Amino acid sequence: MTHYLAEVADAFQESWDRQQEAYLPDREHRIATMLDAVEAVTPDGRPRLLDLAGGTGSISLRALARFPGARVTVVDQDPVLLALAEASLNGDPASPVEGDGGVVGREIVAADLGRPSWTEALPHRDYDAVLTATALHWLAPERLAVLYGEIRQVLRAGGVFANADHMPDEGLPELTKQLLGKANARREARYAAGAALSWRDWWARVAADPRLAPLHAEREKIYPAEHGSAEWTPPAGWHLAALRTAGFTETGLLWRGGADATVAAIA
Ligand SMILES: C[S@@+](CC[C@H](N)C(=O)[O-])C[C@H]1O[C@@H](n2cnc3c(N)ncnc32)[C@H](O)[C@@H]1O
Repeated sequence: MTHYLAEVADAFQESWDRQQEAYLPDREHRIATMLDAVEAVTPDGRPRLLDLAGGTGSISLRALARFPGARVTVVDQDPVLLALAEASLNGDPASPVEGDGGVVGREIVAADLGRPSWTEALPHRDYDAVLTATALHWLAPERLAVLYGEIRQVLRAGGVFANADHMPDEGLPELTKQLLGKANARREARYAAGAALSWRDWWARVAADPRLAPLHAEREKIYPAEHGSAEWTPPAGWHLAALRTAGFTETGLLWRGGADATVAAIA
């Protein structure tokens, strides 16, 4: 049976990507470097991956394109984004491996990372990799430090965690301000030229779609403010220290671009 969002899922995936790239011009490269780390720790090429705060499943879709035998779990609490992830990952009626709960090895999980109980909703405890991008800055500092420990608990020994987010370099405060100013100007130029939708406009399109509007109404109960909650973007050094405290054996920078970085850690 065809997924009820099949007609619109690809289009919303594409406009989500453009909308996110307006914030992160290096987004594809950033995801590719995370997948390099996944490849390095899974010699059999069949990683079990947790796409944390995965939204529409962007990381999972790229992981499956690169590792066709990958098993993915997308966790998020946004009903709109999870429905798009579901349609893209499990909505292919021609898939040869459909099970009762959708395509085998592709799980969509609704859970709030703000609460420790999120791990109870997971179908596995032995992930090869937990990847997350542009999301954990929505959490409060004390919660994020604890979450890092919870993430380690769902990774197998030797598995990798990577978090790509806004993480300025504390040694470059003035240069960072200038870099952010330039990035903002480039983003505004993209909106003005119609190259990408702004965050607000993307959500307005969702609200205007009759198939997504009921889910959008549900979302507004979860995220009454425009961006969910206040954003907290400490330097990469804060994340590395918190990951070491959480018990990871190796921690370091996997990637940096301007005021963004990807920290990685081995369980
Ligand atoms: C900017 S989006 C990024 C999504 C995806 N990682 C990507 O790169 O396209 C941030 C995501 O974090 C999710 N998120 C924020 N706070 C969350 C929480 N407490 N629990 C679960 N998901 C959360 C949002 O719902 C949203 O999908």
